[in-house]
Formats: sequence, C-alpha cells, structure tokens
Amino acid sequence: MGKGFFISKGVGVVCIILGAGAVATIIALSVVYSQEKAKNENHVSPTNGATTPTTSKPPTTTTTPSNNPWDKYRLPQSLVPEIYNITLWPRLTPDPKTGLYIFTGVSSVEFKCAEETNLILIHSNKLNYTNYENNHMAKLIPLDSGSKAPSIVSSWLQNETQYLVLKLDSKLMKDHRYRLHTTFTGELADDLGGFYRSEYKGDGGKKIVATTQMQPTDARKAFPCFDEPAMKAVFHITLIHDHGTVALSNGEEKETRIVSIGDQTLLQTDFEPTEKMSTYLLAFIVSDFGYINNTIDNVMIRIFARKSAIEAGQGVYALSITGPILKFFEKYYNSTYPLPKSDQIALPDFNAGAMENWGLITYRETALLYDEAFSSNGNKERIATIISHELAHMWFGNLVTLRWWNDLWLNEGFASYVEYLGAHEAEPEWNVKDLIVLNDVHRVFAIDALASSHPLSSKEEDIQKPAQISELFDAISYSKGASVLRMLSDFLSEGVFTMGLRTYLAEFAYGNAVYTDLWKHLQMAVDNVGSGDLPGTVHNIMNTWVLQMGFPVVTINATTGVISQKHFLLDPDSEVTAPSPFNYEWIIPINWMKTGDIQIRRWLSGKTVESMKLTGSDWLLANLNVVGYYRVNYDQGNWDRLLEVLSTAHATIPVINRAQLVDDAFNLARAKLIPTVLALKTTKYLGKETEYMPWESALNNLDFFYLMFDRSEVYGPMQDYLRKQVIPLFNHYKNITDNWAKVPKGHMDQYNQVNAISLACRTGHQECQTLTQAWFKQWMDEKINPIHPNLRSTAYCNAIAAGGAKEWEFAWSEFQNATIASEAEKLRAALACTKQPWLLNRYLEYTLDSKLIRKQDATSTIVYIANNVIGQSLAWDFIRAHWSYIFTQYGGGSFSFSNLINGVTKRFSSDFELKQLKQFKANNAEVGFGSGTLAVDQSIERTIANMKWIADNKKSVLSWFKAEAKLL
Ligand SMILES: *[C@@H]1O[C@H](CO)[C@@H](O)[C@H](O)[C@H]1NC(C)=O
Ligand SMILES: *[C@@H]1O[C@H](CO)[C@@H](O)[C@H](O)[C@H]1NC(C)=O
Ligand SMILES: *[C@@H]1O[C@H](CO)[C@@H](O)[C@H](O)[C@H]1NC(C)=O
Ligand SMILES: [Zn+2]
Repeated sequence: MGKGFFISKGVGVVCIILGAGAVATIIALSVVYSQEKAKNENHVSPTNGATTPTTSKPPTTTTTPSNNPWDKYRLPQSLVPEIYNITLWPRLTPDPKTGLYIFTGVSSVEFKCAEETNLILIHSNKLNYTNYENNHMAKLIPLDSGSKAPSIVSSWLQNETQYLVLKLDSKLMKDHRYRLHTTFTGELADDLGGFYRSEYKGDGGKKIVATTQMQPTDARKAFPCFDEPAMKAVFHITLIHDHGTVALSNGEEKETRIVSIGDQTLLQTDFEPTEKMSTYLLAFIVSDFGYINNTIDNVMIRIFARKSAIEAGQGVYALSITGPILKFFEKYYNSTYPLPKSDQIALPDFNAGAMENWGLITYRETALLYDEAFSSNGNKERIATIISHELAHMWFGNLVTLRWWNDLWLNEGFASYVEYLGAHEAEPEWNVKDLIVLNDVHRVFAIDALASSHPLSSKEEDIQKPAQISELFDAISYSKGASVLRMLSDFLSEGVFTMGLRTYLAEFAYGNAVYTDLWKHLQMAVDNVGSGDLPGTVHNIMNTWVLQMGFPVVTINATTGVISQKHFLLDPDSEVTAPSPFNYEWIIPINWMKTGDIQIRRWLSGKTVESMKLTGSDWLLANLNVVGYYRVNYDQGNWDRLLEVLSTAHATIPVINRAQLVDDAFNLARAKLIPTVLALKTTKYLGKETEYMPWESALNNLDFFYLMFDRSEVYGPMQDYLRKQVIPLFNHYKNITDNWAKVPKGHMDQYNQVNAISLACRTGHQECQTLTQAWFKQWMDEKINPIHPNLRSTAYCNAIAAGGAKEWEFAWSEFQNATIASEAEKLRAALACTKQPWLLNRYLEYTLDSKLIRKQDATSTIVYIANNVIGQSLAWDFIRAHWSYIFTQYGGGSFSFSNLINGVTKRFSSDFELKQLKQFKANNAEVGFGSGTLAVDQSIERTIANMKWIADNKKSVLSWFKAEAKLL
C-alpha cells in the first residue's frame, strides 16, 4: 500500500509558519495507512428483504472456547482454494425501505482438501447469507466423480474471528475437490474498507462509486473467502451494474452484456480470470468515470477518474509516466509485466495513499491527478513516487507475496526503497533518489530512537488479529524497511542486489515467500561474484538490522583512531526493556571521506575497531550520502574542524552530508551526547547555503525548538536569529526569480524557494508578509489566483493567519469548490492557520461532519489545527470531548489514528500537560485507544523527555540565540 498521510512539501510548510513542525523530530508522520472500521453499526432497520439471517447457533461447548478452530484467527491448513467464481451487484442508490446502500453477491469457491476434516472455515465479515434449501448458509458440491459430499449439519457466523463456519456430518476426503456456494448481502457503507462507497458531486448532483480496499483483511467483507495472503487462487469476477456506468476489476473486461433482473435491465461485465493471486489484491469498482489510455508493448494502460478531471487533462501526467516506470521495473526485475493491462484510478474517498491491487491500482485523487495550474512540484513528485511504489509491488508483493503479514516490512520497505528508483527513471532531472534521506531515513530515525520502538521483523505467531496486522503498517515497516534495504543494496552493489532479487522473483513467482528467502537469493548472488569485503553472510549482517529495534550511533574519535558503536536513544534515560538477540550491536558498513577525499569502506562488527588517526587540519566525515542506517558522532576536535569547513567551504562536503551533519548534531544533542549549542552552531553557515536538503534538515530540527519555545521567552531571540539567517536565502530567490515572477528551474530549488518564503514570513520578515498578503488579496479581489502552485500552501497560510473571517470564508468557499484535490488539500491545511480561536473551533467541529470534511481527511485536519500554536489546546480539548466518537470512527486498526494522538500532544512539555495526558489515558481506558495505544504511551514518554530537555537547555539556548541575534 502506498503512503497515506504524507506531509508533502507544500503542506509541511504550512505548519512551519505557525510555529509547529510537520515533522518534529520525534513524531511519526511519515507513512500512514489507515483503515476505518466502524465499530458500532447503527443501522436503522434490522432486516433486509433479500436475506434471512441465520438462526443456527454455534454448538455450546464445555471446553474453553479458545480450543475450537473457529476461535483461532488463523485458518487451519486443511483446505486449499483454487478457483473462485464471484458475481457482485453493488446498488448505487439506497434501498428505499432501509435507506442503506447495499450489494448482493453469489460466490463459489473450488477447493482441494489437503487434510481430512469435517469442518469448513471460510472468512466472512459483516455479510448476511441467504439460506439454501438445506436451511444452511452454504451448499457443498463434490467435484470428483464418485465422491459424495458430506452434508452440512450446522452453519453459523463466528463474528469475533470473522468466519462462516460449516460443520459436516462426515469428513471431506484428502485430495478431493469440492465447490462451496453462497449467496449473500453486504452493506456498501462509507467506511473505506472492503466493498465500500465513495461519493462526489458531479453533473446533476451526488454520484456514488462502489469501490474496494481489501488490504489487509477486508476481502472477507466483500465475499466469503480464505482471506490469507498464502491462500492464492484464480478469480473469475462478474459485476452487475447500471447503464451508464463502467465496471472494473483486476482482469480485463471480457464481455459486457445487457441482462434483466426482475423488472430492471442492467449491464453484466465478465472479466478475464486473474492470475493466481492473494485475496487482498482484488479490486471491484463501478463508477461513471472517464479514462484516457495508451498501449505500450501490448500492455494497455488506462487512467480513470471523475469525468470532469479526465476532461481537464488531470490524468495526462500519470499516463505519461506509467509506461516508462513499468518498463523500468521490467528491466530491474528482469521479468515481463504479467498482465495485459494496468489500470489506475483516482477515488474521491480513499484512506491510504494508494493500493497496489494487481492490474487495478487505486489512489487518492491527490496521489494520481496532476494539473499544472493547481499542482505544485511536490504534488507532482508525490504522484511520480507513489505510482512507482505501486508498480513496484506488481512484482514484489503481487507476483511474489510474503507468506504472512509479519513480513509486511519487507514488502513495504522494498517498495518504499525502489519507488525512488522508478521515479528517478520518470524524472531524471529531479535527483529524487537523494530525498530518501530526508523522507525516510531521517524521519524514521526519530521514531526508531525511542525505547518504545520495535524491530522490523515480527514473529508470525504474534500477528494474528486484524488489528495486529493493521498496526504493522507503520513508519518502521515503510521507512526503516526502505532505509536498510538501500543500505543492503549499497554494500552488496546494485548489480549483486538485483541479481539476487531476480532469481528470488523467478523462484517464487505466483507463490509465497518469507524474508529469509530473499536473503538466500542475495547470498547466492554474492557467492556468484565473490564475497568481497563482507564480514559475514547477508543473513548474519541483516539479522542485526532486522531482528532488533533501533540503530547505532557510531562514534569516531579521530584523535585516538577508535571507532565505536552504541544503541542510539533519543532519551538516554529511557529504559530499554525489550531484549535483543545481539545486545544492541550491529554489523555496520562504514564509509567515509577524509578532508575531501573519499576513502574505502570498512566494517564495524564488534563494539570498537581501531582506525586511522588524524593530524593537523584533516577532518573526517562518515556515512557518505547517508547510505548507512546509523548516526555519527565525533570527538570535539573533528566537530570543530567540520564546523570550520561548513563556514569556509561548505561545498567540499556533499550536500546530503550537510543535511546529515545538521540532523545528526541536533539529535545527538537531544541524546545528550553533544552540547545543544554545538548543534545550533551547525546552522550558522546557513546564511551562505542555498541548497534545499540542508535547509530542510535544519528546519525539521528547528521545528522542535519552535514546539518547545513558541510559548516562551526564547521565542523572540530565536526569531531574530532565524530571520537573519533566512533573509539572504529570501533575497537569493527574489533575484533568481526576477522579483518572484519566475519559477526556479531545479526541483530542489523550487522546494527551497518555499522554505525561503515560509521561514522569512514565519520569522516576521515584513517584505515577505506584505508579498504573500498582497497575492492573496489580489486573488480575493480579482477572483483569479495569481499565486504559483508551488507557493500556494505557504502563501495561503500566511494570508489566512494574518487575516480574519473574511479571508477564512473566502478560502473555505474555494476549498468547497476546488476542482482538483491537490488544491483542496492546500486550502484545507491553510484553513488551520487562522489565529482566531472561534474559527479554529468551528473548523474542528467540521471534522465531525463528513459532508464538510471527508472522513479520509478528518484526522489530518485535526492535526493541522493542533500544529497551530493557538489551535493546539483547542484541538486537545476537542479530542478529549469527542473521544469515544472519534475512536469508533477512526480507531480500529488505523494509522492516521496514532498520528492524531502524536499530533495533538507533540508540543506537550509541562508537568500540567503530562498530568492531563495521564488523566486522559486513565479516563478512556474503557473506550480504549486501539491502534493508538502505543502512541499514547509514546506521547507520555515524549512529554517527559520534553520537560527534561527544556529544563536542561532553556538557559543555554536562550543566551545563544540572544548572542547570535545581537551580531546582526
Ligand atoms: C444484516 O443483518 C443484520 C442483522 O439482521 C442487519 O442489521 C443488517 O442491516 C443486515 N445487513 C444488510 C446489508 O442487509
Ligand atoms: C460462475 O457462476 C455463474 C453463476 O453464478 C455461472 O453462470 C458461470 O458459468 C460460472 N463461471 C465459471 C467460470 O465457473
Ligand atoms: C454474528 O452476527 C450476526 C448478525 O449480526 C448474528 O445474527 C449472529 O448470531 C452472530 N453470531 C454469533 C456467533 O454471535
Ligand atoms: Zn506499498
């Protein structure tokens, strides 16, 4: 699945302006997959004409219930599905009697019996069944001539474990095949999971789209199925739909014909059978969307979206890059794309960023639709990387699937790494591959440095319930997974890495694997070319990164020549209770540069190793381009020399490492390994820096200072210092853009222009504020937006912050009328920038009304408001007041949910706030925190750490800023 709650450049900037970082060092905002699961069904009518809810009850047992197979979350291995035949009919108008949107279905599944059994367990969730003549919810037919099917003696729904259970009067015979028929009804709810509905305003009013999101465990909400990734089968799909709508699924449309059902004439579309595949990759969609298409080497590529979006050309960019990226991955994997078509569709309501359904990839609109008049370069980059991410899954994930969800990190980490390679292919000018350092490595460092982090790999037996599976879709799986795979590819060399990858895919095509299978193939590739300098097998080296949480800080003492490692903890006083099989030691590839010359790599595999000593003015810089998943500390002498190089000849240091020096220094200071003042000194050279990555790194880290100090006396002197630092950058952009008339050429330059404006405005640079307010006023007055899409987020936010109700209402009406989601997204974020408490409170209320703020956007809107220093306490009050509602709407297995908790509490740094947080935890113990449970504990851990940090640092930080600001 693609990243969901991605803070794009444009949106991140909004937060910066009002004194709250999108990416405060500690907060997990990177990757979000979230899935809303309505806990309470509040249906009006209990019955539905089409179905008769079963009356059979599970047999009463005297043993403890957990001994029954239907009380276990994992399927027994006795039955193996082979072919499904599914017909589904979603109704795009509500049932006149009940007011419910529903779908009906008939399904059959052919399975082979692998072990004799008199029990059939098949996943089913929230489906109502029609009884067959045997008075049971299914009918069983033997497929081998001469064999007699056992009769069903009882059938019931085991709701907790989500099974349809069928008890038989005799055993199914080993190696015999059977077919199971069912007829069922489900609700086409707006809950963003399973078969669900999305709504939008089109010509002639409200339009309904029926669509799906199966991953990880909601295929069972669309039809009864053996819903585990290793239960691969071939699917024959048929969709019934209204005239004027188009039906899509994984396979190509085989035939659409007119059918009569009752007094209705409808369309029936049959699809070509799928490849052998997992249930979580299925997709069924009925919509009135339009599309554009082209064909590359016999693969038909189509982009679907709302007709008006297609007519406005918003699918053109996606179409233009899909073919080249698909070709790139065919070469990279040395494997032909196995399907005849690749559909991609933009949905108005979609919870994750995107979903890699095989042959029919679904996206949020912002992740697929591009319009030059509205989309920023950041929006464009997001589209390129997310398309690349999903296409990468067509092989890694879809063709070869991990056997169980505990290995999710390999699936998502891999796609999150190679998405940069594919996007680079589409946009070679961007240097997009460098950005993995900011977007994934640095971002996940912040989380993985906590004592409450967790290892990449989980044990299969620990991941059973749907909520446990959902919890795995986190920044560790995505961003740490990507970071360690990038390191692995680097130390093996890309040639060896792809060699192993290719044989892995070839061996397991259409099947399932575990992560050690990939290690095995990479080792084969290593052995093939000779193992070079590797200090162990791929398996041994990678175990240290995969089986223990966290990462090391490598300390290089250039005076004594000793290199050592230690588990890096953001809070050195935090207690690590989780045991590690390697005692928190890693096998670390270390590469470095000495006084500008690149040196070879060496390995650190024990606690310490002897290395070279430096003399004179020589300096050493380790972890070039941050390919290693670790931080680096030095002795004071080397730090001083590095600071000297930064201030006199910063270009000697590669740009990624300039970003690293800043990020490492600030985090080492947080961990009390170096003084905070030393970290602040890494920002002194920024007056001469024009590159994006170091600036971005500095801003990400200074955000923490804003969070801690924007309500204190440090704020003023800090603003003075930062204003002084940013004005040269602001003027640089003013010059190269001819007084803001032109767009800077480079992708990174465009990003840094946004930083220049947002920081200049944020620090109160008058010229900047006048500029952005004038733009906005011109828009309001002339109704033509003069602001370049790249600058909109920051300009809107500044103008709305400076303005009042008039500006806010204008932006709100533009939000409601926006014809492209990326514009709506910018406005939605900027609306949280107002300084009027009543507007912020009203905006918070809007998040409870899905007609005003879509459900998919509710939690991120609350977080935007909390980012605003004035909105912070309002959002916190709001969350507390509405906890049980918010929890039932967004709590189950949702990832945006932990972002919500982290987001509203990230500024917490006082004893009073800590008490409130603990009270909140106690008060809601009964309702619970679901997938946000860890986030609540992390928030408490973070608040305590923040309190200590302020106590230790406030004085020195204040006097440093004061002194630096005076040097104006
Ligand atoms: C399924 O049955 C339950 C219980 O009778 C009912 O509340 C629900 O509305 C039914 N769902 C559908 C989609 O018919
Ligand atoms: C699938 O089922 C439908 C009716 O439910 C039937 O008409 C069709 O022939 C079946 N297709 C296959 C491939 O078995
Ligand atoms: C499961 O839910 C259905 C519908 O809500 C209900 O009819 C059935 O009795 C439940 N099954 C069990 C075992 O509780
Ligand atoms: Zn993914």
